[in-house]
Amino acid sequence: MPPTLDHIGIAVRSLEAVKIYEDLGLTTEHVEVVESQGVKTAFLSVGDSHIELLEPTGHDSPVGRFIEKRGEGVHHLCFRVADIDRELERLERKGYRLIHRNPVPGSRGSRVAFLHPSAASGVLIELTERP
Ligand code: CO
Repeated sequence: MPPTLDHIGIAVRSLEAVKIYEDLGLTTEHVEVVESQGVKTAFLSVGDSHIELLEPTGHDSPVGRFIEKRGEGVHHLCFRVADIDRELERLERKGYRLIHRNPVPGSRGSRVAFLHPSAASGVLIELTERP
């Protein structure tokens, strides 16, 4: 089964940034602190996919460092896969650089892992497997 676009992650200083998306007609579905990534996230549904706003919970979180270096904006693309362990193993065998060789806990009980941005022309790619 080919992957689907699960969500687009956007780094923001504050989750108040949901306003523009709500004004566009999207609904905030879910807000959650994801300790493993040092972020508070808000998920808005758009069709079968989502917008994920990421507010850093501290300056030394990866999203906090991203905002300090590059400002707010698009942070990552996330693809939903059926078997994340198998995908990571397969991509590593193909020579792609991974940030996580083993999945870490994501929001809503998912398991997630990031590829290094050098794998995709500077774009940070996340893989997720939903429970
Ligand atoms: Co994400």
